[in-house]
Amino acid sequence: TIDQKVNALLKKMTIEEKIGQLNQYTGDNSATGPITINPNKQAEIKAGLIGSMLNVVGTKYTRQYQELAMQSRLKIPLLFGQDVIHGYKTTFPIPLAEAASWDLQAIELAARVAATEASASGIHWTFAPMVDIGRDPRWGRVMEGAGEDTYLGSKIAYARVKGFQGNKLGDLNSVMACVKHFAAYGAATGGRDYNSVDMSERMLFETYLPPFKAALDAGAATFMNSFNDINGIPATGNVHLQRDILKGKWNFQGFVVSDWGSIGEMVAHGYSKDLKAAALSAITAGSDMDMESNAYRYNLAELVKEGKVSIDLIDDAVKRILRKKYELGLFENPYKYSDDKRAEKALNNPENRKAALEVAEKSIVLLKNENQTLPLSKSLKTIAFIGPMVKEYKANMGFWSVELPDVDYDKWVVSQWDGLQNKVGKNTKLLYAKGCEVDGDNKDGFAEAVATAKQADVVILSIGERRDMSGEAKSRSDLHLPGVQEDLVKAIQATGKPVVVLVNAGRPLIFNWTADNIPAIVYTWWLGTEAGNAIANVLSGDYNPSGKLPMTFPREVGQVPIYYNHFSTGRPAPNENSTGYVSSYIDLKNSPKFPFGYGLSYTKFNYSDLKLSSAKIKSNETIKVSFQLSNVGKVAGEEVVQLYLQDKFGSVVRPVLELKDFQKVKLNAGESKTIEFTIDKEKLSLYNDKIEWVAEPGDFEVMIGASSADIKLKANFELVQ
Ligand code: IFM
Repeated sequence: TIDQKVNALLKKMTIEEKIGQLNQYTGDNSATGPITINPNKQAEIKAGLIGSMLNVVGTKYTRQYQELAMQSRLKIPLLFGQDVIHGYKTTFPIPLAEAASWDLQAIELAARVAATEASASGIHWTFAPMVDIGRDPRWGRVMEGAGEDTYLGSKIAYARVKGFQGNKLGDLNSVMACVKHFAAYGAATGGRDYNSVDMSERMLFETYLPPFKAALDAGAATFMNSFNDINGIPATGNVHLQRDILKGKWNFQGFVVSDWGSIGEMVAHGYSKDLKAAALSAITAGSDMDMESNAYRYNLAELVKEGKVSIDLIDDAVKRILRKKYELGLFENPYKYSDDKRAEKALNNPENRKAALEVAEKSIVLLKNENQTLPLSKSLKTIAFIGPMVKEYKANMGFWSVELPDVDYDKWVVSQWDGLQNKVGKNTKLLYAKGCEVDGDNKDGFAEAVATAKQADVVILSIGERRDMSGEAKSRSDLHLPGVQEDLVKAIQATGKPVVVLVNAGRPLIFNWTADNIPAIVYTWWLGTEAGNAIANVLSGDYNPSGKLPMTFPREVGQVPIYYNHFSTGRPAPNENSTGYVSSYIDLKNSPKFPFGYGLSYTKFNYSDLKLSSAKIKSNETIKVSFQLSNVGKVAGEEVVQLYLQDKFGSVVRPVLELKDFQKVKLNAGESKTIEFTIDKEKLSLYNDKIEWVAEPGDFEVMIGASSADIKLKANFELVQ
């Protein structure tokens, strides 16, 4: 068995070789620069002192590095890890955008394609999915997660792990997933990256941990810990998180990698007096692999000699890592994943682009569509396509996209301009003006943009954030559209032409004037390789938009954090305009600008005939909830029907509503369908103040909605003992 092999190998290893397995270094290549292997690293690999590399991509270079490992005494293969976050060569929408699809199959497919391409290029392991709950759009990394909701986030976490890992580790098209960042990184104070988190154990278990548990249930091979301190202890050195919960209660058998330098950063946290103390805390807490801190490499042996770290602790970490190398099949063939022929095929498979288009279409959210501005009429003679994003290529890839040195992205990515140009063909004239940059205060391009708009039947304005404005270390204190872009919107709207605004961004932005004055608004996020085609399909009506927001969009930054599943408080605001001695602001409405779960379609759906199989449920029983969904519009479309529950009273206060199920349903024009959900004890349970997962008897309300703020049907039932 693998365990026997691991134990036999372990017996042959020196302490230095064991510690080597716990050591991960970055490659010397920037993604686009030339690849040279640093002579020191070469020597260390040959001496068996490095277990894993990150940022080494491609069959040629992974092979080159692996050849060095094969010169080591025990020939233990290297593991190659990489941030394959939303696609490899074929870039998919940023994860937050994919979450807006609410389409678990599509999300799994995106991860599957990424795994197929990456694993053919020598990569064994992706540092994804990021499953941090994101309730604060100031935090730049919300782009990398599934948004604010625990239920949706858990389903997506599960789907992504399945997609990356496929049927089993060791299959050629599979990469190990790495669930990150354990834990609660998304709750960083003020949305500032790397910042502190202080939260109750109940909040941790109820809101932030379930997506991690779901990823584990999907079989996630590895976890990454986190930069933040939580309740006073850095996550990387946190015994409670890693030993008690992850490896204890949850019985996680894979390995934990630190975040980049996060072991060393425990010194800056003021938690460890030096790197040696940091190494001691990290290994004790259950961080098995040290990413780029050099803490284990230079301190663990001494700590063992001094009796501060037991060899069993080291052996446990080493075994966890070796087990994965065996499961991947690397001992049988260390070059198994570095296969030129397979890479050539996988990286140029037209099916992958097809998948990227499909997922991109599904990720788009239609926020507003008055006067049937969209879809664009087929008889338009002239369209003005204006804005700083229109002719960009790489920009559509968003943050955390892999940039391969040998790919010409201006040819590989479909720009928004090219997409629309291909769609409208020769009968419609497409005019272009840039208008302004994404940021800065230069309005010199406004006059040309206005003149261009005046010549057109309709104007499409593509604005938003640059791709480097959301992501790691990209927190923002201001969520408004950057620069003078909203002024450009005003100038164009003043022409009197019908205007469609596309917002490209990695987070919820604030654009109140645009939202109130422009008839059609489409949230296009960062959609990847097929961005231009996906957007053109939505604008033309060839694809009917079906996305729904996975995060609440605030009216102003002062409302943040704002999320739909808040508690009632003792003084709930009765409506969005309420002020006085209720929980509210005196200078702003109480509602968000766009709520969680919101998104429009080119058709209309009607909800009716809610039925519950019973008005009472015992905890070992289920209730069937059914209703009619009808497409009462003129075109086929997909609706994400959302089931929310409210536990009316509890031993701890409960959210005003919580998403507990959803379905994405496709209906032809005029078609109706009976939709069914099942409510069971699991959906009715909560963490009580003893952190026990219990369903408490009492009254519940079930709500069926088109969004968290658009509840169409509701009914009450009771959980009885
Ligand atoms: O995977 C990432 C992590 O999410 C943030 N710090 C760097 C890691 C490796 O690139």
